[in-house]
Formats: sequence, C-alpha cells, structure tokens
Amino acid sequence: MSDILVPVALANRPYDIRIGAGLLTRAAQYLGPLAKGRPLVIIADANVTMHLEHLQAALDSAGIASHAIRIAPGEASKSWDGLARLCDDLIALGVERSDHIVALGGGVVGDLVGFASAILKRGCAFVQMPTTLLADVDSSVGGKTAINTRAGKNLVGQFHQPALVLIDPEVLATLPPREMRAGYAEVVKYGLINDAAFFEWCTQNGAQLLAGDSAAQVHAIHRSVHAKAAIVAADEREIRGVRALLNLGHTFGHALEAEAGFSDALLHGEAVAAGMALAFAYSVRRGLCPPADAQRVRAHLADMGLPHSLASAGIRADGRALVAHMAHDKKATGGRVPFILARGIGASFVAEDVDLADVAAFLDAAK
Ligand code: GLY
Repeated sequence: MSDILVPVALANRPYDIRIGAGLLTRAAQYLGPLAKGRPLVIIADANVTMHLEHLQAALDSAGIASHAIRIAPGEASKSWDGLARLCDDLIALGVERSDHIVALGGGVVGDLVGFASAILKRGCAFVQMPTTLLADVDSSVGGKTAINTRAGKNLVGQFHQPALVLIDPEVLATLPPREMRAGYAEVVKYGLINDAAFFEWCTQNGAQLLAGDSAAQVHAIHRSVHAKAAIVAADEREIRGVRALLNLGHTFGHALEAEAGFSDALLHGEAVAAGMALAFAYSVRRGLCPPADAQRVRAHLADMGLPHSLASAGIRADGRALVAHMAHDKKATGGRVPFILARGIGASFVAEDVDLADVAAFLDAAK
C-alpha cells in the first residue's frame, strides 16, 4: 500500500505528515534531503532502542551518517535539567541552525526535542517520528512543545512546528497494550469533537484496532491526523477557540492526573478517557447533551478497557480538591477556566461560563 500524505496547511510553514508501513526503514528517502550531506542527530529513549537501531541501520545503508542521543524514558526527562542536557549534547555534536534534528519516540521525546529545537541556536528544524499511538494521533502533530516545571506539566514551551512527521504504524506492534489503549482515547476524541460518523466507526472497529489490525490502525491514524491538521491550520496558536476543542476531556483529565500525582497510576490518555466521559456527563447535567449520547461514550470507553468514571480511574478525591487542580489550568483567563462541553456526540464546543463550584458538586455526585 502506498503512503498516505496529510498536509498541514499553515501559511508560513506548511509541512506534511506521511503515514506508511515500514517508514522507519524507508526514512532515508525523506530524511536524506533534509540532512544535506551532514550527519543527522536522532534523539530517542530506551523504550525505542530497537527502532533506533533499525533507523540508524537504514540511514547507514543509504550513506547518511547519524548520531544518537539517548534520554531516560518518562516525564522526568521533560525538565529544565533534561532540556539543558539535551541542548548541551546537541551543541557538542555541532548541530547548526540549518540542521534538522529527529525526535524518535512518544510524547515525552517529541515535546522535549521540539522545545530544544525551538530554542537551540535561536531555532532549528526538527522531524517527528512518533512511536506510540498517542504521539501518532496527537502530540507529534501541531507544534506544541514543552517541558514540565515544579508547578505543573507543560508550563514552559513554545509553538514550534516540525518540518515533517513520519508515522510508521508497524512500530505499534511493540507498544504495550495499556499504552495502546491510552492512545486510543485520543482517537475517540476526534469523533467526539466533530465527527459522529468516526465515533460510530470507533465503536465498530476499536476492538480490532487494539488487537493489532493494521488496516484499522492506519484508518484511525489517518482520520485523526487529518482532523488535527485541519484544526491546527485553522487556529495554530489556540487563540480562535478552534484548537481549544482538542482539549476535550483534558480539563477534567488534568485534575485526575494531578490527583494521581502525574504517575503511571493514571496515564495521560487514560485520564483523557475518564475526562471525556465526565465532560459528557457534565454536559447532560447542564441540559446540553442527550443522556443517551453520554451513555454511549461511557459504554464505548468501558468496552475498550479505558477509565470512564472517577471510580474506574481510581480517583477518590472530592469535588473541591479536583476543581482546585482545574483552577491552575494554564488556559484560565481572569479566573475562568474554559471547558469543552458537548451538545451531543460530534458536537463539542468551548464553554466559557462554567462555574467551578457547580463542577465540584457534579464531581461529588459522580463519585
Ligand atoms: N494536544 C492538544 C493540541 O495539540 O492542541
């Protein structure tokens, strides 16, 4: 099957997302012209050592030299220290502003490398080669880059678009099932935002996708990045109330993640799954959404083995504690936290009038 190309139509820096089986070992064709005869620097973590070896071997066979920088897996690498180390390593390797550095891995690697490339030598180019479903369908596309600080996740960062995104669905074969399910939550999100037919597809094909069906995986990745590319092209910097829709489930989810200490007890995608179910249930409470739609969302997430409630996410905190996390949302303005609510499946919108005391009461009742 030939590769699928999804353009991200940004006026000043358009780029392509290329989706294709075996791209990891065919990457030289696309990375070679960017390397322009200089060695490529690839940043990867220990979870993808095998993929890194395959990529470097393929580049080597094509006569493209490469250096690898390995970072420790996990959120802890997305820190000031991790950023400083990476920048020092890139400078030591002689990376120039006109070079393209390659992020091979999941969201942590992509966010960190993206931010390092945004500031190194006042900005150089980078390529995203995601290796998790979550990175395929969300974090590798759209140019959000960041590190975490003591005060919270992704609080320091930059919009910095990649020059190219290469997605090889074959690498998903080595992804642990739990990571796969967590990434699948972000797939479902696109159906819930504005594509009821895609949600329907998810209900019929989600189980095969998670079981490793490659046609279902490619279809879901294509549909997801196509949706994300359109949203990013319409509102790159999240100022027109369009890109904010991608935060469906994230305000509730962020509170759950914070309560779980941003630990492996609750992965980001799992928190988003529970957060989407809560956003729909809260939309029902506000009289916005038919209860049957919220029930369908909850049932599908449960069927896929994803958290779909506070209890299934392992959260026992009360409503007041949970909204306290929401109040620190980096998207809050004038004390108001924007929520993504829904008038039904595929009909999400940004609500600026949400009263956190009402959300706390809802969460207490939802326990
Ligand atoms: N993950 C949300 C966004 O890229 O805007």
